[in-house]
Amino acid sequence: MYQAIILGFILIITLYVLKRMREPKLNMPPLIRYKFPIIGHTYSYLYNTEEFLKQCRKEYGDIFCLYIWGQVRIIVGKEHSQEVLSRDDVFDFSKAIERIFPGDVMLKTLERFTNTSKVLKEYVLNKMKFYNERMQNSLYSATKKQIGECDEPKVIYNIYNLITKIISAPIANIFVGEEISQYEEIITTFAEFTSDSAIFLMIPPILDFIYPGLQNYINRIILRLGLYNPAVKHQNILIKHLKKQICKRLQDKEKNGESWKRPDDFLQDTMEEEDFDPNNVDYPFIADKLGVFIFVSIHSTSSTCANAIIDLASRPEYMQELYEEQLEVHKEADENGILPFEALNNMKKLDSFIRESLRLTGFITGLQHAILKDYTFSNGLQVPEDYLIDLYFDDIYVDESLQGPNPKSFEPFRHLDANVPASKVTRNYLAFGGGKHACPGRQFAINEIKFFMHYAILKYNFRTESGKIEEKTRLGPMTSPSSCGVVFEKRNK
Ligand code: HEM
Repeated sequence: MYQAIILGFILIITLYVLKRMREPKLNMPPLIRYKFPIIGHTYSYLYNTEEFLKQCRKEYGDIFCLYIWGQVRIIVGKEHSQEVLSRDDVFDFSKAIERIFPGDVMLKTLERFTNTSKVLKEYVLNKMKFYNERMQNSLYSATKKQIGECDEPKVIYNIYNLITKIISAPIANIFVGEEISQYEEIITTFAEFTSDSAIFLMIPPILDFIYPGLQNYINRIILRLGLYNPAVKHQNILIKHLKKQICKRLQDKEKNGESWKRPDDFLQDTMEEEDFDPNNVDYPFIADKLGVFIFVSIHSTSSTCANAIIDLASRPEYMQELYEEQLEVHKEADENGILPFEALNNMKKLDSFIRESLRLTGFITGLQHAILKDYTFSNGLQVPEDYLIDLYFDDIYVDESLQGPNPKSFEPFRHLDANVPASKVTRNYLAFGGGKHACPGRQFAINEIKFFMHYAILKYNFRTESGKIEEKTRLGPMTSPSSCGVVFEKRNK
């Protein structure tokens, strides 16, 4: 027994020394001193992120290295963040995700889906105006179902979970069609696919202390051996409905010939691709494609929406001003309460509120990128291939010259005169990344959030149960929406 422990200990030390010997000898950014080998800065980074990074930035400048989870990570501040986002030949966001999240093993056919952004653009984003009425209809009926009339005040805790179901309704409608999206289990799959899969992101990468990447390697083995795969139950639900729906569409088309009414959705566009074989439909591949879009769209939009609702519930003093704007906008609605697509441009105060909410999400670092090849920053510091870089968001968001006066305070109409809508990527606002790979779905997401909030502000009064400003839940450098109670009450017109 003792021999095994001693051997294990020697092995860990040997791997640690080997790893340090492998570290390159470029003109690297300064590595902040640390007291405890192996642990390095992990503890301070997780439990005292804001103060710790502020101190590092003050002492060591815009780019510095930390030793976290058994490896050197590079933190890049405001002066060089844009360099990272604009050089996609050097810095890669998706490769960094692959290093911590085994999405490619979870969705087995994923490697064949290479034109994600192009498909998204052609099948969905270019048709946003066309999908306008459907988006609103399904958002409004999902809101009625999930929040209800609220004739009596209703307290909702963990509003993120409920909003995920509301946000999923129009996305499911546009992706898999009017018919399948009526099924409760489809909405649940859209709503829960991401949070279930994210279990691999929630496990602290303890094994990386032994060797960088070991945790991801073990997670991948668990998936490959079929021991556990949280995506499977959702893929099975998607495949079950896709089978019925695709067969039905193929039969309807054959039976009705010229008079066939073509369904409009992502699924139909997929069925009209050149390599779609009606006699040998590749259901797992279609389910995996849907999985990718569910993964990128639902959690991001729902958490942004939940934060915006809680931010407003925390600051009821802005409710009346936003209500008046929405009342004015609503004059453009038709007899069924549906707004023209162009009405979104008139929700200027609401848009600014959402941008402020996104700006102050509370992420201290983020947008991790993998380094594809050795690179020399414009200040002469060099970073080696294979390392990971994190952008230091807080450095950008608390800077007065970039954000204007009182950068830390929530000022909902801060962006009103600056003519920068919530979906616009600028160098002082990294919610949607930047450069060539900036989020292509950002306009879609903001439209959906604006339509939802338009409806919610007109229908309800809402406030935090505590009557106070509720902060986000902090998870190291990241946050998630607060689970506080939000009181909804039917608005007396
Ligand atoms: C508020 C909601 C959303 C936020 C905050 C968000 C944020 C982001 C961020 C930060 C990136 C990485 C950008 C970069 O590498 O510079 C990204 C990428 C991406 N997002 Fe979003 N996103 C949201 C909603 C959506 C929606 C609704 C869709 C689809 C309908 C979508 C599709 C994508 C895709 C396909 C990529 C990968 C782009 C590429 O690698 O070229 N996102 N998103």
